[in-house]
Amino acid sequence: GAPVEVDVSKLEDGERVTLSWRGRPVQVVRRGEEAIARLSEIRDRLRDPDSERSDQPEYATNEYRSLKPEFLVMVAVCTHLGCSPQFIPDPGDAAMGSDWPGGYFCACHGSRFDLAGRVYRNVPAPTNMDIPPHRYPDDNTLIVG
Ligand code: FES
Repeated sequence: GAPVEVDVSKLEDGERVTLSWRGRPVQVVRRGEEAIARLSEIRDRLRDPDSERSDQPEYATNEYRSLKPEFLVMVAVCTHLGCSPQFIPDPGDAAMGSDWPGGYFCACHGSRFDLAGRVYRNVPAPTNMDIPPHRYPDDNTLIVG
């Protein structure tokens, strides 16, 4: 599949766009400062917080799982059996509970992920969701693939 180009300049904090890359749904989410800060507060609730057993390019093996902390670029497919998880970005979402920091929820069997696609402990999904290769040729442009 060919690389896919996205203009990220119009994305507001908490917004996302979905694109198709190699037949897989890739989501780009802009994380605000508070959402970025929350990524380091929930480490002990995560199965693989440093993504040692998960799939991402070497340059995205960090807490944000991305090249730029403000942008998540992720294959939004649950690593359990491949359902599409719901995007639930708001902390304390009524359905998810007051300690929900924002992230993704897979309704198929209840797997939870944070806003870097990192999986929680004690859910069926074994690893974090995949991060595809990506780069920024300039400040406004993201290329996936
Ligand atoms: Fe997502 Fe089973 S497919 S929890």
